[in-house]
Amino acid sequence: MIKPVIKLHKIDKAYQLGKKRFLPVIKRVSLEINKGAFIAFMGPSGSGKSSLMNIIGLLDWPTAGLYELDGQNISEIPKRTFPKLRGKKIGFIFQTYNLLPRYSVYKNVELPLIYSKEPRNKRKQKVLDAIKSVGLSERAHHKPNELSGGEAQRAAIARALVNQPEIILADEPTGNLDTKTGNEIMELLKSANDKGTTLLIVTHDPDIAKWANRTIRIVDGELEGVNV
Ligand SMILES: Nc1ncnc2c1ncn2[C@@H]1O[C@H](COP(=O)(O)OP(=O)(O)OP(=O)(O)O)[C@@H](O)[C@H]1O
Ligand SMILES: [Mg+2]
Repeated sequence: MIKPVIKLHKIDKAYQLGKKRFLPVIKRVSLEINKGAFIAFMGPSGSGKSSLMNIIGLLDWPTAGLYELDGQNISEIPKRTFPKLRGKKIGFIFQTYNLLPRYSVYKNVELPLIYSKEPRNKRKQKVLDAIKSVGLSERAHHKPNELSGGEAQRAAIARALVNQPEIILADEPTGNLDTKTGNEIMELLKSANDKGTTLLIVTHDPDIAKWANRTIRIVDGELEGVNV
């Protein structure tokens, strides 16, 4: 039997607004995602897509329910170890690229390796390979503001891939790009998925969702038609 890499069981998330006020945004979400899956999440603005990605990506944690990442119950591991675990297992891609503006493409891509304490002598080849894999070798020493949107997103993909994560989470990765550039970005993400990376994307665009093997709709914090 294939073991799920991500297992969510009755996950709730409520944001605390005031001393006693809570805003429930994820409601009893149960979902199992197998290694190598490619899933698109769609749903109205405010339905909880990014909140769910943040939980899966260990940027935030559920208020109730069980989350197992690679068979490990994340409520049993200290939150201070999340960044390390995240750095090892998960690559993130955002709509607005989130590159560090003062650093070159090369340095942006190198950062996850520095965080994960990759020895210096191994970093260079990995960075150059990741940059090459997204076709950005000629721009390696450009700063983010010297890149087009598509180039910036390719740099962000190189940064997400450089640690060879098991899972890539891409929240509206093509949201700021034209159709052609968006499809080029999807080609790159799809090829990472073809090599075995589990890929979760959030998108408003049905044509982008078509790249995935499965689309899950989220409405008002609940997954439609998903029962584990
Ligand atoms: N840190 C926070 N504190 C309080 N409320 C939040 C916080 N983050 C998000 N919310 C609220 O939670 C709800 C879900 O937000 P979320 O960002 O997950 O939606 P989304 O589906 O990603 O929307 P969009 O498509 O616009 O990106 C929204 O009502 C939002 O206002
Ligand atoms: Mg969002």
